[in-house]
Amino acid sequence: MITDIKTYLHECAALVEKSLPEALPAEWNIPLQLRESMLYSLQAGGKRLRPALVLAAAEAVHGQAAAARNALPVACAIEYIHTYSLIHDDLPAMDNDDYRRGKLTNHKVFGEAMAILAGDALLTHAFHLIPRVARLGGINAEVALDIVEDLAMLAGARGMVGGQAADMQGEQGITSIEELEYIHLHKTSDLIVFSVTAGGRIGGATAEQLEALRHYGRNIGLAFQIQDDILDLIGDEQKLGKKTNSDVEQQKVTYPYLIGIEESKAQVKRLTREAKAAILEAQLDAPDKLLLIADYLVQRDY
Ligand code: IPE
Ligand code: IPE
Ligand code: MG
Ligand code: MG
Ligand code: MG
Repeated sequence: MITDIKTYLHECAALVEKSLPEALPAEWNIPLQLRESMLYSLQAGGKRLRPALVLAAAEAVHGQAAAARNALPVACAIEYIHTYSLIHDDLPAMDNDDYRRGKLTNHKVFGEAMAILAGDALLTHAFHLIPRVARLGGINAEVALDIVEDLAMLAGARGMVGGQAADMQGEQGITSIEELEYIHLHKTSDLIVFSVTAGGRIGGATAEQLEALRHYGRNIGLAFQIQDDILDLIGDEQKLGKKTNSDVEQQKVTYPYLIGIEESKAQVKRLTREAKAAILEAQLDAPDKLLLIADYLVQRDY
């Protein structure tokens, strides 16, 4: 089953990777360095987990993979936002990292000014993609409005950016577990919650099903970031495509720092169980992929 889900995730990644550059019109007159800087990070690889969650959630609710086709531009939009968040996260003023997705970080290649601007442009372009699918008839305009509203909330000040701000202000020895949970829920869970609820909306989810998807996203998102913290300590740089011990160097507060590695691993398992329980109760037509993705993430090593 885990091999099946790996194949599914690879298929989603391939689909999204084909669409990512196409989503930025070739005929737009964009300064060459800016376009190259945006495409450099978009095409650097990465797991493409958030787009896969959009597609898997659309299929889970609708019952058929066909629903996923309409969700593809929204899947690209969240990968644009996620990629921007990584470019900015790596900047010297933030985590000061030199490698990402197995390549030099954006600012190392294009300079800090262009890296900041590439991030700004990726963020803005995501908000161009969603209304455009509605205009072209791929999704209902009302659904597109809900998705745009969610994205602004979950990527913005009370979402991912808020989590990143709290992460920058957090200090080892001062931050409590409650404050750390706030950081992780916002810097990481919020974009994952967006992904599954956007997919759910496209698939035609009821209010109860959306609530279950939110619950699932919150829990796998928190588990995902705890696993990221664990891998920062014990992971393989080659596999991860980024340097380990970045959190130690930046004196970040992490789950392993506060509660130890073993307890952190136990939390990942507990959160995954809760996430799956929410999905099992939601009466979805095809919940299997969401369940398998949750299991797959517990044992990921990159
Ligand atoms: C890295 O996200 C940042 C976190 C929120 C932990 P991913 O681990 O999904 O990174 P990519 O997209 O695969 O490079
Ligand atoms: C990053 O968290 C979260 C976002 C980019 C929003 P981390 O700083 O832990 O991610 P990595 O370890 O650099 O990928
Ligand atoms: Mg960071
Ligand atoms: Mg970082
Ligand atoms: Mg990390």
